[in-house]
Amino acid sequence: MSALFETYTLREVTIPNRVWMPPMCQYSAAPDGPEVGAPNDWHFAHYAARAAGGTGLIIVEATGVSAEGRISPYDLGIWNDTQVEAFRRITRFLVAQGTVPAIQLAHAGRKASTDQPWKGGAPVGADAHGWQPVAPSPVEFAEGHPVPTELTVDEIQEIVGQFADAARRALAAGFEIAEIHGAHGYLINEFLSPYSNHRTDAYGGSYENRTRFALQVVDAVREVWPDDKPLFFRISATDWVEGDGWTADDTVRFAADLRAHGIDLLDVSTGGNASGARIPVRPGYQVPFAARVKAETSLPVAAVGLITEVEQAEKILANGEADAVLLGRELLRNPSWARHAARELGGDVHVPDQYHRSV
Ligand SMILES: Cc1cc2nc3c(=O)[nH]c(=O)nc-3n(C[C@H](O)[C@H](O)[C@H](O)COP(=O)(O)O)c2cc1C
Repeated sequence: MSALFETYTLREVTIPNRVWMPPMCQYSAAPDGPEVGAPNDWHFAHYAARAAGGTGLIIVEATGVSAEGRISPYDLGIWNDTQVEAFRRITRFLVAQGTVPAIQLAHAGRKASTDQPWKGGAPVGADAHGWQPVAPSPVEFAEGHPVPTELTVDEIQEIVGQFADAARRALAAGFEIAEIHGAHGYLINEFLSPYSNHRTDAYGGSYENRTRFALQVVDAVREVWPDDKPLFFRISATDWVEGDGWTADDTVRFAADLRAHGIDLLDVSTGGNASGARIPVRPGYQVPFAARVKAETSLPVAAVGLITEVEQAEKILANGEADAVLLGRELLRNPSWARHAARELGGDVHVPDQYHRSV
């Protein structure tokens, strides 16, 4: 029996296999008007294809807990009921295919208000549906980015509440798993890392202070997210900078805190907070960070980053380096990757009735 095609149960949710799709922004929602931030035909077709392809779990892309929390004006959002209704069409289809629907709840912090990447991804202002970004400290992400507004304590509390409201709406929209986006240099990551957090109040300085916002978000979401449903956290395990960044040691320590606060699985990515970081990108380059959390804590982990080959993915699980693998760009290339892998390994996978002649 292949490890990739073993089921996986967290709390009361059983995921049919370990081939998962990580969140990937499509930058394709309406930037304003009544449908602002709502998934549309593109999102439906995109997620539906990966579900029909046998993907066990799909984590819908970074979805703003508020309009200001979007990475770009074209991101999905989950701050109103029109958005909830539009998500239902996607979750219904995923469930019908046997895929577990998850959603990444996000606030982009100082990296908010940028253009679609295929248009260059530069910061945009009010003349192009943009806004002034916020952050723990008034330090810009990179040259050419605006200096973000430093959040007050009241504003921090308001954002904690927005994460809880977003989780409530995600539940109403039919999602079975929520993932808190704590990675890639967005707001929660900005608080965690001393590289971007220069505050001197209760939210900056010591490890306890820098992790306070993240844990308040986790607590607020866990309170509204049902006990029988899993909650994930995505982390950048390292900033990839010497000296003043978040490190793999911090991640191991924090994983234990997250476990104690009700997180069920750590989705282990890296980078994105320090614009000049040099990242040694190669196949499976982030797997050792996931493996270390798995070896040193009791928190389950998912590995991500240039996992593309069937044998490579199977080995990561068989070696006990992770509990699941996330395939991003490879699933963009091949929506039926899970079906192909099952064929190669002799695993069981969902095949839509309509495709039975292709088995
Ligand atoms: C088009 C695109 C959009 C992405 N959007 C998100 C996102 O919304 N949230 C997130 O945490 N990571 C995002 N990522 C990162 C992916 O989830 C994943 O970690 C990364 O692509 C590495 O995995 P891969 O080598 O299998 O593609 C995005 C990546 C791509 C290619």
